[in-house]
Amino acid sequence: MTDLDTFILGLPKAELHLHIEGSLEPEQMFAFAQRNGVPIPYATVEDVRAAYAFSNLQDFLDIYYAGADVLRTQQDFHDLAVAYFDRAAADGVVHAEIMFDPQTHTDRGIPFAVVIEGLLSAMADAQARHGISSALILSFLRHLSEAEAFETLAAADPWLDRIAAVGLDSSEVGHPPEKFARVFAAAAAKGLRLVAHAGEEGPPAYVYEALDLLRVDRIDHGNRSLEDDALVGRLAQEGMTLTVCPLSNLKLCVVDDLADHPIDRMLDLGLRATINSDDPAYFGGYVADNYRAVAAARDLDKAQLATLARNSFTGSFLPEQTIVAHLARLDAYLATH
Ligand code: ADE
Ligand code: ZN
Repeated sequence: MTDLDTFILGLPKAELHLHIEGSLEPEQMFAFAQRNGVPIPYATVEDVRAAYAFSNLQDFLDIYYAGADVLRTQQDFHDLAVAYFDRAAADGVVHAEIMFDPQTHTDRGIPFAVVIEGLLSAMADAQARHGISSALILSFLRHLSEAEAFETLAAADPWLDRIAAVGLDSSEVGHPPEKFARVFAAAAAKGLRLVAHAGEEGPPAYVYEALDLLRVDRIDHGNRSLEDDALVGRLAQEGMTLTVCPLSNLKLCVVDDLADHPIDRMLDLGLRATINSDDPAYFGGYVADNYRAVAAARDLDKAQLATLARNSFTGSFLPEQTIVAHLARLDAYLATH
């Protein structure tokens, strides 16, 4: 391991863009399929990995939703999240804000309670075993209707105090943020924070809509904002956090080569960029792998990596005094590394 790799692993960091269903490793997919008696269209783990060659977001989503079918019981959701937190802890993650897609499960007849209770017990386990704090982001599937998003928000009512935010994911192009303006307003009225995928494949106009119509606190991805100078200026001026996912961008052909990844350009433009793993089991790496890969490809130095980690805390939904405490620990780490 290089000095920089060691530095990255030890760097205290938060992960702000992680789909828990995207942490389903092929080995786990087989184990859950077997214990639940669910057929899967793969003979071996190698077959599964070979199927993970995507040319765009939709290619990936088709395989990702099919994979999620093996998740049936509260224990499955618990085990899935425990495995993610174990990986995150090994990567120096001290706080994680994890997205889950309830509609992927409720549409298959899995009750909302089964999903969320499995995740919540794993979050308690992560706090107890690793000292990792975490928060839940309920993500609406944007290819489904506004009415279905409202139904999902209603289903979450008994757990509102355990959910930090709502998000918006799935097929971006053709499903602009505007479609969900009313359900985001309803979520805000319930005291929830707001995030949305925007500018991953969709145009800068979708980022404007996420800001102006959804009134988001963070933009997930946001890469295509760079095509619009006025938008970049506004995001910088507002201190808007972007949850950038380098290995995802590579696997979904948002960038052709990591050597062309705009992460350092984002920092140079004053954007509050962070590094995240998105769907680590599908894209070939957890959060430290993302830091390492993009650091190597873009020749990032320790100061840039420290800024990215700092942004992960300032962009989190933690209370202000907890953020200050995390930043102090980060500064103490930097002073000795
Ligand atoms: N769901 C899981 N990962 C996603 C991504 N990168 N973009 C949109 N929807 C997603
Ligand atoms: Zn995502």
